[in-house]
Amino acid sequence: MLNQVEELASKAFDELGRVTDVSELEVWRIRYLGRKSSLIQILRSLATLPLKERRTAGTRANELKRALEDAFTEKKSNLERSLAPSLQRESLDITLPGQRVSLGRLHPTTQTLEEICDIFSSMGFQVVEGPEVEWDYYNFEALNMPVDHPARDMFATLWVDSGTEAGDKPMLLRTHTSPVQIRVMEKSRPPIRIIAPGRVYRYEATDATHEWMFYQVEGLAVDKNITLADLKGTLFEFARRLFGEERKCRFRCDYFPFVEPGVEVAIDCLACRGAGCRLCGNSGWIEILGAGMVHPEVLRRVDIDPEVYSGFAFGMGVERIPILRYGIEDIRLFYSNDLRFLRQF
Ligand code: DAH
Repeated sequence: MLNQVEELASKAFDELGRVTDVSELEVWRIRYLGRKSSLIQILRSLATLPLKERRTAGTRANELKRALEDAFTEKKSNLERSLAPSLQRESLDITLPGQRVSLGRLHPTTQTLEEICDIFSSMGFQVVEGPEVEWDYYNFEALNMPVDHPARDMFATLWVDSGTEAGDKPMLLRTHTSPVQIRVMEKSRPPIRIIAPGRVYRYEATDATHEWMFYQVEGLAVDKNITLADLKGTLFEFARRLFGEERKCRFRCDYFPFVEPGVEVAIDCLACRGAGCRLCGNSGWIEILGAGMVHPEVLRRVDIDPEVYSGFAFGMGVERIPILRYGIEDIRLFYSNDLRFLRQF
């Protein structure tokens, strides 16, 4: 029995020497001083030993128990003391105010685009897209503006390839979204009802009202018996949903080579409701888009018979809508990435 106690003692101290943290120490305590440990078992079984052996073994076992308890207490306080500096270092003041996580948001242009697309989608228009780098053919030629057509001057163009070298087709950054009309009509037959949102580019010196890149949304409907009344109804409805039920609309003649007749659509001024103010330049009206009945020549080019089918088209600038709504005074704010501006929407 005595041997057993001695063996246990040397094992226990040996292992305690290798303990390096508090949780290991607890495992050690359970193993050597816990209720099921050998030492406690030995102490319990003393009663069954002959008197002489009981005395020697009992004394030694009790000594060992006390020694192990003392060693445990000392080791524990050592470990805790060596932990203190790192606890101090890693301490954190949970009473400090938190740091707000700043959430991103959609750009005002994106918000407006989504609104426009939602309105036309609910009227049965499909949303399509076209390339921003475009052939002269789609941007001008097929839209009834052959080379040297004076209307090309309406669109200050950024050329990618002038097409002057033999075999090169002239290529440009699209100046409007109207070329998507041609791409859609080449690929599909009436009935057609699409809108085409996207970026357009102009060779422009920028100022408060001009940007060299901005967004447009194009619209096109082609079917049998489409009339100017359908165009009016559609755009009236659009203007009321976007700018409010009480909105008035004005249609006036305008010229675009790819429509006949062409119209300019205006709404009564949001600020003065027609009385005349700074926002509307004292006219009471604010132009919001160009539109018209698709020119028969344009239909013919994409093999749609203008004797059977007719269509309307429209195109609008997107930034103009938040500019009007919020009274934004400089279009350059949209794409100069100033968070003080962008966070307001
Ligand atoms: N593409 C024209 C522009 O950028 C806007 C426009 C006018 C589009 C009349 C149309 C339209 O579809 O019918 O100035």
